[in-house]
Amino acid sequence: MYNSKITGLGFYVPENVVTNHDLSKFMDTNDEWIQERTGIKERRWIKEGSGDSTSVMGAKAARTALERSGLKKEEIDFIVFATLSPDMYFPGGGVEVQELLGMDTIGALDVRNQCSGFVYAMSVADQFIKTGMYKNILVIGSENHSGGLDKTTRGRNVSVIFGDGAGAVVLSRTEDSNKGILSTHLHSEGKHAKELVLEGPSTARWVPEILANNDPNDVSYYPYMNGQFVFKHAVTRFSEAIIEGLEKNNLEASDIDLLVPHQANLRIAQFIQRKFKLNDDQVYNNIMNYGNTTAASVVIALSEAWGKDRIKDGDLVVLAAFGSGFTWGSVFIRW
Ligand code: ACO
Repeated sequence: MYNSKITGLGFYVPENVVTNHDLSKFMDTNDEWIQERTGIKERRWIKEGSGDSTSVMGAKAARTALERSGLKKEEIDFIVFATLSPDMYFPGGGVEVQELLGMDTIGALDVRNQCSGFVYAMSVADQFIKTGMYKNILVIGSENHSGGLDKTTRGRNVSVIFGDGAGAVVLSRTEDSNKGILSTHLHSEGKHAKELVLEGPSTARWVPEILANNDPNDVSYYPYMNGQFVFKHAVTRFSEAIIEGLEKNNLEASDIDLLVPHQANLRIAQFIQRKFKLNDDQVYNNIMNYGNTTAASVVIALSEAWGKDRIKDGDLVVLAAFGSGFTWGSVFIRW
């Protein structure tokens, strides 16, 4: 039986720093509100003309991960790409990364699970490796939020939260059953799909229809979020996904060396930290600097934590996410 372990990590964020104060120049918001409610101090937004896009950032992060894995691009068998903000409606970002990295005609799969995207993508890649089908898989999470936010006061409850960026790992086959991904746990509850949604343009709400309406209040092409409803569900589902993994692996919360929660809101992460009685060294947060980068957030945080020597050989690392769908899940890793 094969197992899969992370052999390389990397992340990329655009250079352009946008502080809370910067936002207050074009919408009615302020640093105090944003920090108090979300913990966010600044985020990165792609600068026009920089050439960055969801796929380009994904490819940049992937290059770093690949380099650190010590593998050649020819040794990668498959790409799993998670995003809610692909460069094009179709095709997805995975094929663009395949082309940008000049890879052979390997398969490329896009995962559409919003903030849980990277957790889902890791689970998919893990199954391909455990069955023996593939040896090395690039797993990428990337988002360009700034290109599609309502940056007026009307959209402030959503726009101040999101940032751009990408992260990637190389997941590789190992025969050491004590190391690597121990288990993954995935869930969804589609009845809440419209509580956190971007409805159009889509086949249900196509561009000509939106334009024909000529309704200035029609903002269905911007993300909508029922913030407090999402918040309440997030804290419950985060906890469930962690408990499920602990039980499956006969572990206690105190065994967790590093929890890397999806960076949706610092208050959610702090709630989870308190609930599981984890100390500050056991949880990694970087929402202060990058905002919520959705499918990229867990992998950016994981990669940054690893880069800061927060992860040691043999550590129990837990990834957990919750987001639009609703979807949620966790990944338990013995490093
Ligand atoms: N600046 C200043 N004031 C604001 C802002 C802003 N940016 N945004 C909203 N407000 C105002 C509102 O208008 C409201 O004013 P009122 O009381 O006069 O009506 C007040 O602040 C409170 O607004 P709420 O929306 O109730 O604020 P809340 O405390 O719920 O915080 C937040 C909002 C931060 C979005 C929070 O609900 C949250 O974090 N929710 C969960 C997010 C999450 O987990 N998302 C999942 C992942 S995302 C994904 O999957 C794509």
